[in-house]
Amino acid sequence: MSSTEGTSRNVIPAQLLRGQKALVTGANSGIGRATAIALGRAGADVVVNYVAGREEAEKAVEEITAFGVRAAAYEADVSVEDQVVAMTNRMVQEFGTIDILVANAGLQRDAALTDMTLAQWQKVLDVNLTGQFLCAREATKEFLRRGVVPEVSRAAGKIICMSSVHQIIPWAGHVNYASSKGGVQMMMATMAQELAPKRIRVNAVAPGAIKTPINRSAWETAQAQEDLLQLIPYKRIGDPEDVAHAVVGLASDLMDYVVGTTLYVDGGMTLFPGFATGG
Ligand code: BGC
Repeated sequence: MSSTEGTSRNVIPAQLLRGQKALVTGANSGIGRATAIALGRAGADVVVNYVAGREEAEKAVEEITAFGVRAAAYEADVSVEDQVVAMTNRMVQEFGTIDILVANAGLQRDAALTDMTLAQWQKVLDVNLTGQFLCAREATKEFLRRGVVPEVSRAAGKIICMSSVHQIIPWAGHVNYASSKGGVQMMMATMAQELAPKRIRVNAVAPGAIKTPINRSAWETAQAQEDLLQLIPYKRIGDPEDVAHAVVGLASDLMDYVVGTTLYVDGGMTLFPGFATGG
């Protein structure tokens, strides 16, 4: 637990998302897990999707139900069409509908360009980009079927794509990952343009360096932390809750007029910190 967690955890209005049903992919760990818990704290019922790590997913479900809302863990590989279709159908059957999709599941398979295998390239594109496409497509079908229910939300549905600062910051040694997030940016904006007239809001959150298992090597030693902080004007590494709070806000009617935007949650990483003293 980081020093900021205790203070940042309790700022969520408990009724903000009352009556809404949220699906969070890759919610057994890291940013997805914190997001699922924050949505539950805000009053939403939550489906915790996972592909591996059932125990962690069940633990997240327990934490969420302690807020007095419903939660369940669903196994599905977001990159496999049949599994995504089955997951969203099951959610509609068991929870009644889907109001919020957080397309979060993502991974890295890092390698220098000349060492990168096609399998490494393909896996990252399949999960990070195609997975978000499949989940967004299926959730949208449900949003369109149901339409706006004014007592629940001003929008027929909300999609929040988990992107990264690497949707605009090139990243040597990670061409598959950076390409997938660049793709997420344009997929999000195009879906937002297409779906806005249907009262479906599509936005993205782009985290910077957040302390999770995906980037352990960037923060686990004192030297690594020091190097990483050089890239962060705000001089702290992010917590998963920092991102979770941005997602809760974007999903809520407080941000009903926010459409097709990327919200960077990065402590200023995208501000070209090298130019603070150089250039
Ligand atoms: C990556 C992390 C990295 C961060 C900042 C994220 O999208 O998954 O590994 O630390 O960007 O570079």
